[in-house]
Amino acid sequence: MMDPYDRFELLLNDRVVKTPIALASMAGMVDAGYVLERSEHVGAAFIGGYSIDEPTIAASRVMAEDGRKEFLSDDPIEEIGRQLLLLNDSDVVAGVNLRGSSPDSFRAVSERFGDRVIYEIDAHCRQPSMIGAGCGESLLQHPEALAAVIEGLKSDGVTVSVKIRAGVAKNDQDLARTIWKAEADIIHVDLMDFGHAKLRQIRNSCPLTIIANNGITTFARVKEMFSHGADLVSLARHADPATLARLDTAIAELADDVGWYNAPKQLCRGGDIRAFCFCCMPVKDCPLLPALRRIGMERSEFIVMKQEGVMNTPLVHGEHTCFGSLAWCCKSSTPCMFRDMTLGKLGLTKQDYMRYKHRLSDTIMARVFCDENRDDAS
Ligand SMILES: Cc1cc2nc3c(=O)[nH]c(=O)nc-3n(C[C@H](O)[C@H](O)[C@H](O)COP(=O)(O)O)c2cc1C
Ligand code: SF4
Ligand code: SF4
Repeated sequence: MMDPYDRFELLLNDRVVKTPIALASMAGMVDAGYVLERSEHVGAAFIGGYSIDEPTIAASRVMAEDGRKEFLSDDPIEEIGRQLLLLNDSDVVAGVNLRGSSPDSFRAVSERFGDRVIYEIDAHCRQPSMIGAGCGESLLQHPEALAAVIEGLKSDGVTVSVKIRAGVAKNDQDLARTIWKAEADIIHVDLMDFGHAKLRQIRNSCPLTIIANNGITTFARVKEMFSHGADLVSLARHADPATLARLDTAIAELADDVGWYNAPKQLCRGGDIRAFCFCCMPVKDCPLLPALRRIGMERSEFIVMKQEGVMNTPLVHGEHTCFGSLAWCCKSSTPCMFRDMTLGKLGLTKQDYMRYKHRLSDTIMARVFCDENRDDAS
């Protein structure tokens, strides 16, 4: 069997993710036992949500009285510790979904558990009592408060995920940029009914790891998410072992077949900014030019960025291709005998080619998002 790192090249919290499927939290349900029952086919899991201070615990009590399942404990930090201990020997990368009303409440948890776990801020809950406690969706309406929580956690050097619900903040792209600038690591987005167009906007606004969530029950939906910017998908309501096994098997086959499991669609087919790695020289009137204008990048800069991005890699070759180098060549799913002849001469498979394009796209993302002044590319 292929090594999981070679297959997905995916790390979270400095650990290899064996499959890009995560369990999304459901308060009162997703604890260590729940994760262990499903661990064979998930790579990461967010237990919780746990309410971690007096205002949010009071909100949880109100929600429980209204009939919702909640994790209610007199000492939530002790309880989280017990759950993490149970996950210690598992190969699932652990995260904990937290509801708190101040940066200090979150830090109390990160100071206790350090880098053992990913800290996920619940900026998603829409229950009025939780919003009243300054948590959940309240953080989407007050991005400065969200940034303060992220910055507090990051001052402890831990990995931070932010769970958001699309369509709540004034502008989801601005929100993504705020989350990135505050130095969070992961955006876990419940896309609601917005679908892949919203995902692409978020992908084009920040270089963070993205987990796409909501109604991910079919392989077709998984592929739609991967090809528009998701690094992982997550499941909550439909995370039954049979569904997880089915998706895991199909994703592994996709990764082995293509060589880059979440390769973007080409830009002119609706792909996100990572698709620059498949773009031609900017010599014709096509969607590349407006995309470059939106991020404030000159054509000449784009050319240099791609040329430098393939230096010392086999993609530098390809004198018989349209633009003299594989740097400018199309995705492997686009048939082309000139590209394939070059690959044959270099002794590269199509999967190798896509792995090199993946690295080129990482270089491009790092360059595009290293410049403070760039606008997003959505
Ligand atoms: C019963 C229930 C409890 C949930 N509790 C939480 C929670 O505590 N924290 C959170 O961030 N999301 C919570 N969610 C949201 C889910 O993680 C997920 O975003 C949502 O259900 C959509 O994904 P799905 O279609 O895979 O279920 C909850 C969802 C449900 C149905
Ligand atoms: S440069 Fe080529 S691949 Fe990119 S958008 Fe234009 S036609 Fe499509
Ligand atoms: S040589 Fe083929 S793969 Fe390369 S840019 Fe031209 S058409 Fe695309």
